[in-house]
Amino acid sequence: MDDKIFKYYQDRLWLLTSESSTDDVIREYAEWAENYDKSMQEPNYNTPRPFAKLFDATVSKLFPEIQKKNFKVLDVAAGTGLLGLELNKLGYENIDALDMSQEMLSQARTKNVYKKLVCAAMTDQQITDIDRGEYDALTCSSAVCTSHVRPSAVEEMIKIVKPGGVVCFNISFVEVNSYEDKLKELEDTGEWRLALKEKIPFVRDKLTEESILYIYEREGKATDLQAASFLESTLTCDLAIFLRSYYFYLAN
Ligand SMILES: C[S@@+](CC[C@H](N)C(=O)[O-])C[C@H]1O[C@@H](n2cnc3c(N)ncnc32)[C@H](O)[C@@H]1O
Repeated sequence: MDDKIFKYYQDRLWLLTSESSTDDVIREYAEWAENYDKSMQEPNYNTPRPFAKLFDATVSKLFPEIQKKNFKVLDVAAGTGLLGLELNKLGYENIDALDMSQEMLSQARTKNVYKKLVCAAMTDQQITDIDRGEYDALTCSSAVCTSHVRPSAVEEMIKIVKPGGVVCFNISFVEVNSYEDKLKELEDTGEWRLALKEKIPFVRDKLTEESILYIYEREGKATDLQAASFLESTLTCDLAIFLRSYYFYLAN
């Protein structure tokens, strides 16, 4: 990481805290968006590739029948689309992006891997343009931290995926403590169950931080999810959408 960018990253981004407002965060990324990919090039930022590989391995194990190209993923805090790009290389073609920075989303658009781009914040509130239970999976790389996607947003993240769907995110070692109680509470109350927990890199080079990747399965029957995915690949779009909604209705 060159010194100017490293300084930016450490002096400004890391000064954001749980007290920072949404506008504070948006302002930082508006300035960073154009240089984000350059400053995060490997080996400096080594998260999206192992993240995508472990996501793919787990999805393939949990849902051996599904067609990856139809598997509907919402990439939360997608930024410039580095994770979307890695997922796309592995065969995922039905990915939408959500981010609260329009500037970061504009960069993501140029990657041509997202179908829909939604500019909104992931909080504890339902997002207007996203239906609950709409997605087979939700991903969030390097944004689950107390200044970005806060512990209070985790429950809404679960609601975005359908029963049996997966929620996949990483948390830096220095932030894990702030989330542990929430993650455990949601397991104890039967909202989700842990499918994978594994150490992956976060930011390398001068910042030798690590993170933990978590993959949770939302409680509920996954059969509807696999069936809907199969139908989507064989039936016309409108009929598949109707049947998908019907399966979701039955599962709930
Ligand atoms: C460090 S970047 C990570 C981007 C991308 N996931 C990656 O791995 O390169 C963090 C991104 O999260 C977005 N962000 C932060 N808090 C957010 C929130 N609560 N809801 C939606 N986006 C958020 C920022 O705008 C920024 O684009």
